[in-house]
Amino acid sequence: MVTGMTNGRTIDIAPSILSADFSRLGEEIEAVRRGGATILHVDVMDGHFVPNLTIGLPIVKSIARTTELPIDAHLMISEPGRYAQQFVEAGASMVSIHVEADVHLHRTLALIKSAGAQAGVVLNPATPLETLEEALPFADYVLLMSVNPGFGGQKFITTAIDKLRRLRRMIEERQLNTRIEIDGGIDLENIASVVAAGAEIIVAGSAVFGAADPEAAVRRLLEATVQWV
Ligand code: DX5
Ligand code: ZN
Repeated sequence: MVTGMTNGRTIDIAPSILSADFSRLGEEIEAVRRGGATILHVDVMDGHFVPNLTIGLPIVKSIARTTELPIDAHLMISEPGRYAQQFVEAGASMVSIHVEADVHLHRTLALIKSAGAQAGVVLNPATPLETLEEALPFADYVLLMSVNPGFGGQKFITTAIDKLRRLRRMIEERQLNTRIEIDGGIDLENIASVVAAGAEIIVAGSAVFGAADPEAAVRRLLEATVQWV
């Protein structure tokens, strides 16, 4: 069994169910768990903050009843503070909000934590790391988008590698334990470089559920992280 440990850091593969077959969601989740996935990434879109609509609270509730995997709710919605707590109550163990969508970041992060989940801050590809400056100490993890949010199956934006390195440095300089998550266009080709640059939680949608065998796809992604770093 391949475990996601590298250089003392724990690597989590977090398949994004956005690319799963929703008519067989339970089986798909069980397959990626067998492959070694340790987190389940759930993309929530409101058709306003991003130009797409996906899933919401009822699905999170059903998933939470059927799997032991921690649910990572990525809220791509405007004013996430209005809904963040409900996602924790629905069963999410991690809830992340976009800096571009919330003018009360500190309040929402505190709300998520007091509801009992880990709180994450998300940055779009063109949003500078400087916007994290004040919020960083209040976040359990930072999610860097390596595509523009809204759709699965997009191409990895390569400048994310340098952004990951700079974020890693920023966290180390402040002696924080903040974890780094990366999301968008991750595949077998680039997973080793994002891990080497500092990412610990690796989201993969189409590279997992677009593959003929999602279980094997997760296993291969995990192997690629330990093999090359
Ligand atoms: C994009 C979502 C991603 C997406 C990733 O808005 O936040 O989580 O599902 O899918 P891939 O891995 O196909 O880019
Ligand atoms: Zn996502």
